[in-house]
Amino acid sequence: VSRPHLLVILASVRQGRGGERVAAWFRPIVEARSDLTWELADLRDHRLPYYSSARHPPTPPYRGRVAAWASVVGRADAYVVITPEYNGGYPAVLKTAIDALYHEWRFKPIAFVSYGGRRGGSAAAQQLREVAIEVDLVPIRRGVSIQYFGQAMGADGSMAEPVLFAGVANQMLDDLAHWARGLQAGLRG
Ligand SMILES: Cc1cc2nc3c(=O)[nH]c(=O)nc-3n(C[C@H](O)[C@H](O)[C@H](O)COP(=O)(O)O)c2cc1C
Repeated sequence: VSRPHLLVILASVRQGRGGERVAAWFRPIVEARSDLTWELADLRDHRLPYYSSARHPPTPPYRGRVAAWASVVGRADAYVVITPEYNGGYPAVLKTAIDALYHEWRFKPIAFVSYGGRRGGSAAAQQLREVAIEVDLVPIRRGVSIQYFGQAMGADGSMAEPVLFAGVANQMLDDLAHWARGLQAGLRG
């Protein structure tokens, strides 16, 4: 595909979540790019059940909310997950969203925008790389890690280092688009 379609997944669903601010910061960066089309999937809207398929890997026909999720994931060529770090890992709602599908993820690249305290959500991102591989997602090296989130991003969504972080985000998106085109041409035909 000349213009890969990106799905940005917001993995924080709690009341008062900071993830919304991260998504609002990321939105104009993605929107400014001419090499990608994109949409946002807020996991709060999807309300996926815990793994419920009788089969593994899960296979169509999917039912109910999983069917809606499968169509959103299936039409994307690449993924960015915006994830907080909870107790040294990523949120359970995100594991449920990954496990619900398989074929829709296969041979597509994924990158992570993580945020947290001292480690900037990097433990969550690192765990996600391992999990992603099991559904044949292709986790890429570049990503965004927002350390000391409460201080780095103001309540109004302003970034302490906007130029730095926009640069890092665009490098991540450059590589993600490159992988998406390459995997589409080489593996997904
Ligand atoms: C249950 C829970 C566990 C947390 N554990 C961590 C953690 O392990 N590492 C970290 O850096 N921050 C941790 N935090 C702080 C979060 O980084 C911070 O609350 C952030 O705003 C969470 O993202 P959210 O607002 O989108 O939910 C934790 C927060 C919660 C609610």
